[in-house]
Amino acid sequence: MTGETTAQDVAVRASQLTKRFGSFTAVSRLDLTIRYGEIFGLLGPNGAGKSTTIKMLITLLAPTSGTAVIAGFDVADSSMDVRRRIGYVPQMLSADGGLTGRENLTLSARLYGMPRHERSENIRHALKFMGLEAHADKLVKAYSGGMIRRLEIAQALLHHPAVLVLDEPTIGLDPVARHAVWERLKVLRRDLGLTVLITTHDMEEADELCDELVILHHGKKIVAGKPADLKAAIGPDATLDDVFTSSCGVIIQESGDFRNVNQTRRTARRLG
Ligand SMILES: Nc1ncnc2c1ncn2[C@@H]1O[C@H](COP(=O)(O)OP(=O)(O)O)[C@@H](O)[C@H]1O
Ligand SMILES: [Mg+2]
Repeated sequence: MTGETTAQDVAVRASQLTKRFGSFTAVSRLDLTIRYGEIFGLLGPNGAGKSTTIKMLITLLAPTSGTAVIAGFDVADSSMDVRRRIGYVPQMLSADGGLTGRENLTLSARLYGMPRHERSENIRHALKFMGLEAHADKLVKAYSGGMIRRLEIAQALLHHPAVLVLDEPTIGLDPVARHAVWERLKVLRRDLGLTVLITTHDMEEADELCDELVILHHGKKIVAGKPADLKAAIGPDATLDDVFTSSCGVIIQESGDFRNVNQTRRTARRLG
């Protein structure tokens, strides 16, 4: 996507969004612009402020200051309008293992207040988009972690949201399952033109999926741009890990925790 961004192109806009817990600032003066049809990544190590940002955007947490507008509605004074336009997949697995995939979806449809005559068609579509048709009538406790994630995405899509928000969607999944989730998200963007906001501490995931990304560190935006541009600015073989390391001097480990680069280098020197 090139050229000027107009107000109609913007799915999510945050301006100077800030969240303080007592004297601690979890998110500090964050500006974000997410355009319709984009997969946008909010990156950063554990504790960077990703989930707090998401919770403000989906109206589960009131900002301390600043504003956020989702699909044209302000989170502060139009929270119900915002909620109708977003689908949310929380970090913790939430589907009910004692029900089948289809029964979980029926439960969500009822929760969203979807009229009975629309339910089965919408559920069929959501199952198809997430590649779960063959498993729809099996109990979820027999699903793999990746299938449960895809079911949860299907649940979040039932009411045709404008923006799908996923908090660390592939955490704990094996590589095959992660790729399956990535492929589904790409299909949703391509076939439905869906706007997707994900958080992750996994730079490979961000590189694979995101059209645009922002890296948060201690609640502040430290880097923003397209993955390819950010890497090119560092060097020919740079990875997103290198982008992150060069911008804040820490390495994100697989666990999502971070480690100081200088300290690591000092240790390496000492060990010869
Ligand atoms: N309700 C809360 N009260 C106090 N501190 C919180 C609360 N929620 C989050 N925090 C703190 O805010 C920081 C950012 O947390 P979070 O947004 O969950 O980070 P991330 O999702 O990037 O791992 C962390 O230091 C966390 O401990
Ligand atoms: Mg989080």
